[in-house]
Amino acid sequence: MKLLKEKVMTEGIVLSDQVLKVDSFLNHQMDPVLMREVGAEFARLYAGEKITKVLTIESSGIAPAIMTALELDVPMIFARKHKSLTLRDDILVEKVYSFTKRETNEITVSKKFLNKDDRVLIIDDFLANGEAAFGLARVVEQAGASVVGIGIVIEKSFQPGARLLEEAGYRVDSLVRIASLDNGTVTFV
Ligand code: G4P
Repeated sequence: MKLLKEKVMTEGIVLSDQVLKVDSFLNHQMDPVLMREVGAEFARLYAGEKITKVLTIESSGIAPAIMTALELDVPMIFARKHKSLTLRDDILVEKVYSFTKRETNEITVSKKFLNKDDRVLIIDDFLANGEAAFGLARVVEQAGASVVGIGIVIEKSFQPGARLLEEAGYRVDSLVRIASLDNGTVTFV
């Protein structure tokens, strides 16, 4: 995606050889025009796949996921990382370990929003080690539903997530793929 690549090039800040800061358009301030294009692109990639739900994880996955769901004309669900006051029983729970933050979160989705007939498109902002995507896929499978694919806005291809997900049999579509962040520079695949 040309616009997304341009944004990464002009506004992305390489914090280390592992971490890219994109808080001006994706992780804090969000660019609605870019998010609309991201949603349209995922919808184009999954047209004809009979997607019934889009699933993401709070918080930065929500913007690309809602725009994708709008284009596909289906509901969007976000997995919660923090316990909700009103979400108590009948929940699907999975543990997700974050290498970046060195902590494990329990992610939860209410059982009433996913059922065995659902064909789910998982969307997330970043793909690094794949822990969040695997956790979301396990939530879908716990419900007896199908993971049709995993759509990622920015894949860090030098980390193992994409490879591990594909080896596990999942379809992965990343809108931009970063080969390296070495020497303070973004190099695309
Ligand atoms: P993984 O799910 O692929 O294994 O990734 P990891 O645990 O390493 O990532 C934990 C959090 O850090 C996720 O956000 C993920 O999106 C984000 N992240 C990973 N690598 C980068 C990076 O290079 N740049 C940026 N900006 N973020 C990265 P999160 O904690 O869930 O945050 P949020 O969704 O609430 O914003």
